[in-house]
This record gives sequence, structure tokens and C-alpha cells, in this order.
Amino acid sequence: MNQPPNRRILLIDDTPSIHEDFRKILMPPMEQNAALDEMESALFGEAAKPQAPPFELDSAYGGQEGLQLLCTAMQQARPYALAFVDMRMPQGWDGAQTMEELWKVDPDLQVVVCTAYSDYSWEELLSRLKAHDRLLILKKPFDNIEVQQMANTLAAKWDMARRARLKTGHLEQLVEQRTEALTLASQALQQEIDERKQLQSQLIQSEKLASLGQMAAGVAHEINNPVGFVTSNLGTLESDFKQLQRMLDAYQQAEAALAPGDCLEQLSALRNELDLDFLKEDIPILIRESKDGIGRVTQIVKDLKNFSRVDNDEQWQWANLQQGIDSTLNIVASELKHKADVIKHYQPLPEIECLASQINQVVMNLVINAAQAMGPERGTITLSNGVEGDRVWLEVADNGCGIAPHCLQKIFDPFFTTKPVGEGTGLGLSLSYGIVKKHHGDISVSSEVGRGTTFRVVLPIRQTAA
Ligand SMILES: Nc1ncnc2c1ncn2[C@@H]1O[C@H](COP(=O)(O)OP(=O)(O)OP(=O)(O)O)[C@@H](O)[C@H]1O
Ligand SMILES: [Mg+2]
Repeated sequence: MNQPPNRRILLIDDTPSIHEDFRKILMPPMEQNAALDEMESALFGEAAKPQAPPFELDSAYGGQEGLQLLCTAMQQARPYALAFVDMRMPQGWDGAQTMEELWKVDPDLQVVVCTAYSDYSWEELLSRLKAHDRLLILKKPFDNIEVQQMANTLAAKWDMARRARLKTGHLEQLVEQRTEALTLASQALQQEIDERKQLQSQLIQSEKLASLGQMAAGVAHEINNPVGFVTSNLGTLESDFKQLQRMLDAYQQAEAALAPGDCLEQLSALRNELDLDFLKEDIPILIRESKDGIGRVTQIVKDLKNFSRVDNDEQWQWANLQQGIDSTLNIVASELKHKADVIKHYQPLPEIECLASQINQVVMNLVINAAQAMGPERGTITLSNGVEGDRVWLEVADNGCGIAPHCLQKIFDPFFTTKPVGEGTGLGLSLSYGIVKKHHGDISVSSEVGRGTTFRVVLPIRQTAA
């Protein structure tokens, strides 16, 4: 900022004697003055007079030449502080045009127009040049002190303008730096808020999972015992009945061999009353259906155990993704029953290293969301999966209501929900996101309003990092 004052002056005038005059006024022989002052201060013991810094005067004898000098000065980064320009120059550009051209190159140049007589009215000239604040008028014949003071004052004005510009630039830079720092700080804050939200939701999720897992495990345990003995009893009942049937067949044969009498009539009356033929057919069917039913209960218990994985909670393990999906589908079957048909496009998958109960949780969230996206009409949920290099992918696609574009970027935010109070907490997807990220995988979504939504989960087969 501490640059030396700019004392450079350009004089454009077609009269050579004017140049002589200006040189005398603005550049008096310095050494002589200085020597005299020095002598005076030595003689009278006074402090040396302050010297105004000398001017540097360049001469041009026409507008074009003046412009040339200005261009060179600008290229060398040595601008002029001011120019004295003669108004009437019959050869080439006149003063007005010269000033126009000069300001195109350097709009900060201060100009003093020197004239005895002008072809324009001053008003006309000022408004043509739009130069009310950088043009002074010096009428010929001029006084030396007038010229000197104009030069001094305008050079000082030019310096002040430069300092103001530098200061403004510096201030702007400061403001920019502060703004940048503020932006960074607010970004960091936002990131922290997001991380906290994510953590909070993970906490809620793990609590939700833990209690759900405990409940599932408790129910599975309670049901497991009776289911076990009912299954075993049904097996025994079946084989016992087969024996009984043999006995009945023997009785029936014996009945045919009996002579007519009271006993025979009683037996056939009883057989008709009980509809023995029907019973013989019906009892095996009842046993078979009961076995089917208890088989289904056994499967549900297995699914509950599979889903909660309480035995080895939070253990990384190799698990079959499709089995997990099927178990989860069984658990949410009642939610899906009235809403959508499920179509599966499975391809053979390798086992993946994962936290199985958590992956099941992701599948459950996606499938329930898909079901909840259905309108009054029954829809379709398509589950597909496959392998891609060292990763497996799973897609849950629905033909439900779709997601509006302005919601799309928010759906993974904790507590974002469009569902009525009580129906959605807005945690399902943020938790799923957290789980997938924990597995070093990706979850993405594509959706079209009115047509449906597809969620895609990609998981590495092997957890090298884990
Ligand atoms: N398959 C989908 N179709 C349409 N919108 C969906 C779908 N999945 C998610 N969304 C939108 O994303 C929002 C957030 O889903 P998320 O599962 O996180 O919460 P939720 O389902 O509202 O509540 P929660 O899962 O906690 O019961 C939903 O409210 C819904 O607007
Ligand atoms: Mg949900």
C-alpha cells in the first residue's frame, strides 16, 4: 500500500512553447533550489523546507501521440496521474476526441483541458465526455501558480483514489475471507448436526432392533416347546391311527363273518350312526392338515429366530441373503397380503459376510415401505437380486405412488416421513442407510410419481475392512 506518490504528467498541446512554459512551471531546476535551501538553513539554522516531490512531464504534440504515450505507460504499469490537454489542435484529434480516447485506455486519468476558446459549450463537452468529476478547465492565458496547484492537487487526488481502491480491494478480500470462513464453519456445523441425527437414529434403531429381537426370540422360545410336542404327537397320532385302522379293517371283515343276530345289528347301527367310512377317510386328512399347519408354525418360529438372530447378535457371519429375504417376507406376510403380490426374480447368490439380522431389517423396511406406497388398488412388489463382481445387489421395486422430486433427497434423513402420525416415524430408511453403510455398501433410489419406486442395495460379499 505504501507506493510512492504518482507525479507523472502528460501534456498534449500542438504549441511547442507551451511545453517550454509547463516544463519551467512544473520542473524548476531542483538542484539549484535544493542548494539554496541548504545554504539558507546552514546560515540561519532553520530546518530544511519540505520539498514537494518533483513532477515527471512527458510531452505529446497531438492527440494520437498522447494516446501512444499513455498506452506505453499503462503497459509498463506506470500510469499518469493527470494530463493537460489543449482543446484546439487543428491537426488530428481535437481536445474532446483526445480525451475520449485517453479515457478508453485509462478511465482513472485526471484531465485538465487548456483553452482560450472552445468549439463546444462547456455543458455540451462535459455531458459528451461524462466527465463531471475528472475534468478541470484551465483558461488561457494561465497563471503559473494555477498550473502548479492543479498539478499538485490532482496528483494528490489520484493518489487518494488509488489508496481508496486498494483499501476497498483489501476490504473486499477480507469480506471474502470471512464469508468463506463462515461458510466453512456452517458446513462443519451442518455436518455435525447430520452426524448427530444419524447417530441418534442409529441409537433408536439399535434399541428398536434389540427389543424387536428380544420379543421375537421370546415368542419363538415360548412357541417352540408346544410346537415341538404337537409336531411329535401328530406323527405318533398318524402312525397310531394307521394301526387302529388295521384293527378296524379286521373288525369289519369279522363283521361280515358274523351270523345274523343282535350283535351284528347293533354293530352295523353303530357304524352307520358314526359314519365309520367317512371317519376312516377324514381322520388322516385332518392329521395331514394339522401337520401342514404345525409345519407352517414351525417355519414362522424359524423365521422369527432367523430374523432376530438373538443367539449371535451383532456377529459378522456368512449368511444366505435369499433365505433372509424369505424369512422377512414371511414375517411381513400379513402386511402384504391385502396390498400387493410379491414377485421374486432370484439368481443364485453366494453367501455374504454380514450382520444378518440387520440386513433382514433393511429388507423389511423396504418391503413395508413398498406395501405402504400402494393405493386402493392391489399392486406388485418385485424383488430381484444378483451378483456383480465382488458385490451382490438387491432391488425392491413397487408400482406404488412414487416419491416427489423435492422429497427424494430427504427420504434418508432421520425422522423424514410423509405418513400420518402413528403410521410412520421416518426412521426406516435412515436406519437402513446406516446399516448398509456399516456393511460398506450402497443404497440408492429411483422413483417416478404415479408409477413407482425402486430401491437398490449393493453389498460387498466379503467385509475386508470388518
Ligand atoms: N417405496 C416407496 N414409495 C413411496 N414413498 C416412499 C417409499 N419408500 C419411502 N418413501 C418415502 O420416504 C419416507 C421415509 O421413509 P422411511 O421408511 O424412512 O419412513 P416411514 O416409512 O415414513 O416411517 P417408518 O419407516 O419409520 O415407519 C416415507 O414417509 C415416504 O414418503
Ligand atoms: Mg418406512
